[in-house]
Amino acid sequence: MSAIPSPSSPPAPPLSTRILGIETSCDETAAAIVESGRIILSSTVASQVDLHAQFGGIFPEVASRQHIRTVYPIVETALQQAHLSLGDVDAIAVTRGPGLPGSLVIGMNVAKGMALGSHLPLIGINHLESHIYSAWLSWPPVPEGAGQELQLKPEPRFPLVALIVSGGHTELILMEDHLRYQRLGGTLDDAAGEAFDKVARLIGLGYPGGPAIQKAASTGNPRRFAFPRAWLEDTWNFSFSGLKTAVLREVRRLQAVSGSQLVADLPVADLAASFQEAVVDVLVGKTLRAAEAFHAEEILVAGGVSANKALRDAMVAQANCPVHIPPLPLCTDNAAMVAGAGYFRFIHGQRDSLDMDVLPNWPLSEV
Ligand code: KG4
Ligand code: ZN
Repeated sequence: MSAIPSPSSPPAPPLSTRILGIETSCDETAAAIVESGRIILSSTVASQVDLHAQFGGIFPEVASRQHIRTVYPIVETALQQAHLSLGDVDAIAVTRGPGLPGSLVIGMNVAKGMALGSHLPLIGINHLESHIYSAWLSWPPVPEGAGQELQLKPEPRFPLVALIVSGGHTELILMEDHLRYQRLGGTLDDAAGEAFDKVARLIGLGYPGGPAIQKAASTGNPRRFAFPRAWLEDTWNFSFSGLKTAVLREVRRLQAVSGSQLVADLPVADLAASFQEAVVDVLVGKTLRAAEAFHAEEILVAGGVSANKALRDAMVAQANCPVHIPPLPLCTDNAAMVAGAGYFRFIHGQRDSLDMDVLPNWPLSEV
């Protein structure tokens, strides 16, 4: 990948730089067009959730086949909804990793083909970086020529502490400037979203587990079960596998007491609420402590789990500084965030070659 100059002195971008973003890292096929890293002109997402729900989780082979079917129509739709053609776009940004190899290559090859055919610059984007840049985006989309007055919310200010919580990652990052990431810590075992998905399966809720647990928890008592919080003192790391095991043990104990093996007989709402509160306590507690320790001006939360209402409410209520959490449609995987991150990389001079390959295990600290 090409080196980028220091982020402190970006060259002046052309007015209204438009980036086409393409995202196929996991089980959503998405395309979007974003202007100046902040204004979404269009954002289309084809979710494969229903396809994978029958397997109780993501089936990688099925995911890549579905991306092949969907990706071109999705890109077409993104251009149409923005009232633009490819000639109106300044660059193509595509998710390079981390993610499922078979899924990543679909978006990457489409992006390469389009860049080659239209002579547009190509920019490979780290998926975690794109989640971070979702905090710069406005919502809802405003197509070109729609003539709406747009009130942009304030941009996040540095230094900031970013908590990225998704199905595959739980990371605490210090950002002193654009495109600069210092990894403070991360999960030692399960990602937060993975814990939601696994516990949901355990107590008979569907896939994806996060929204299902949130719904069940809304009528439950979060104090009923005292599930453990792994604070891992003196580190910025997280661990959720012990919590998952504690829920499993409680389920077994309840089943032994009731004599019923049916998940329907479990106090699902109380289990979900108690589990959710244990996750939220640790995510919020450690993020706030990190923000204080590193004198962060602001906090940023992103990734699929940032859609969780309990997490959003607790973070905002307990923080002593502004908290940026994307609107719900931008929390889970989408391509607007890829185009948004692509803009900041574009104006700092990044251009990738057509030899670029996907990086399924690409840590943010190595971006
Ligand atoms: O960022 P994302 O869409 O994909 C990855 O990059 O992994 O995150 C998906 C994860 C899943 O584990 C899903 O259960 C979780 O985000 N999630 C939630 C909620 N919505 C999605 N977790 C908790 N509460 C939610 N409302
Ligand atoms: Zn994601």
